Amino acid sequence: MSGEWTPDGWRSKPIRQVPDYPDAEALAEAEDRLRGYPPLVFAGEARRLRAQLAEVAAGNAFLLQGGDCAESFAEFHPDNIRDTFRVILQMAVVLIFGGGRPVVKVGRLAGQFAKPRSADFETVDGVELPSYRGDMINDMPFDAGARTPEPRRMVRAYNQSAATLNLLRAFAQGGYADLHQVHRWNLDFVSAGPEAARYADLADRIDEALRFMEACGITSETVPHIRETELYTSHEALLLGYEEAMTRVDSTTGDWYDTSAHLLWIGDRTRQLDGAHVEFLRGVANPIGLKVGPSSEADDLLRLIDRLNPDDTPGRLTLYARMGADKVAELLPPLVRAVNESGRSVVWACDPMHGNTIKAQNGYKTRRLEAVLSEVRDFFAILRAEGAHPGGIHVELTGQNVTECIGGARAVTEANLADRYHTHCDPRLNASQSLELAFEVAEALKAERDRINGNARSGAAAE
Ligand code: PEP
Ligand code: CO
Repeated sequence: MSGEWTPDGWRSKPIRQVPDYPDAEALAEAEDRLRGYPPLVFAGEARRLRAQLAEVAAGNAFLLQGGDCAESFAEFHPDNIRDTFRVILQMAVVLIFGGGRPVVKVGRLAGQFAKPRSADFETVDGVELPSYRGDMINDMPFDAGARTPEPRRMVRAYNQSAATLNLLRAFAQGGYADLHQVHRWNLDFVSAGPEAARYADLADRIDEALRFMEACGITSETVPHIRETELYTSHEALLLGYEEAMTRVDSTTGDWYDTSAHLLWIGDRTRQLDGAHVEFLRGVANPIGLKVGPSSEADDLLRLIDRLNPDDTPGRLTLYARMGADKVAELLPPLVRAVNESGRSVVWACDPMHGNTIKAQNGYKTRRLEAVLSEVRDFFAILRAEGAHPGGIHVELTGQNVTECIGGARAVTEANLADRYHTHCDPRLNASQSLELAFEVAEALKAERDRINGNARSGAAAE
């Protein structure tokens, strides 16, 4: 470790993507207030996630991480939270079925409110204003008042996160996630498509398995795993004043934990080795993530791994490759190879969204589902070829029937984008597109499983 760590040590480092708060006193007041608020998550939960991610790193489990690009105050509604939760549940059962391995579920939820931007300012008709940076910083409308960073938004984001997390915990443990509900998780608007028929077929098979197990005495009452699930939370640790204020010493271990979410990640724009974001995250004991984009160099990546996980703790660090469908085949293999050669334990996950953002002719920011699927396919092939585990996917999705990404079995076309384009930042997969992705990944996991089983069988035969 390079030196002592304190929660405010990042303040003396070069920082990017930082909002310019005009009212320093109000900022200090909001941060002070947050310091006295209860933690959103507990250290023991973060450790549990780290242990599960260690299983992912070892190839014994798969990571499914998903949710909004940016949560918003306007779309705060129990139905939205429920619908995102159930798409994640649906995807998880599809993946479990395909891979025959546990799926670790992590939401981009209950805290994903701060956004890095490619430009600090936006100019419209000659008027220049600060860019929108997410609801915990400023507001979307293009006027000076809305775009001025406002510290109290952090407190509002905290409160919304607390309420969201409360509902998620109830959904996860209160019966909604019971496998007997697997048919009901289908969202109404999805139920007509081909992926819905495929899902219904899978749900029938799960029902059958549950009936068989019940006949053997294994029920929701005897085995809580059938009735309950775990959904962890995550967001980009971008607004470091907020993250610092949520950071506490865990009384059990004496370690620092950022209690704003179970997992925090460093974005592709803020991963400078000596920058503030790396400095902050190296010192918290949560599992952490690092986006690995097209400008990543192997040497630099190894130095970052060293800095962020000096003890090489399995499950501590997840790398999200986000190269883009057209670049992944060229850019990812040397990085995977370098990490393999270093002998370091990481989870390799694929973010097939952020390298595939395009602008449609009508001006909408969008992504083609075909490009998303193609990057995931290549990711699996590359990791396999390099002898590493394809550990997971990280996607921007919603349970709402939005038209933000192009393509899918029930195709959203460029002309449809305007119909229901609601995102506060990047375009998300809707529920049917998400299911389609899950089936694609499930196929890849099944191929992986067959390969490993086949190897095991032929190994046994040779003995
Ligand atoms: C994001 O995950 O929303 C994001 C901005 O990603 P990246 O840092 O990879 O661009
Ligand atoms: Co995004």
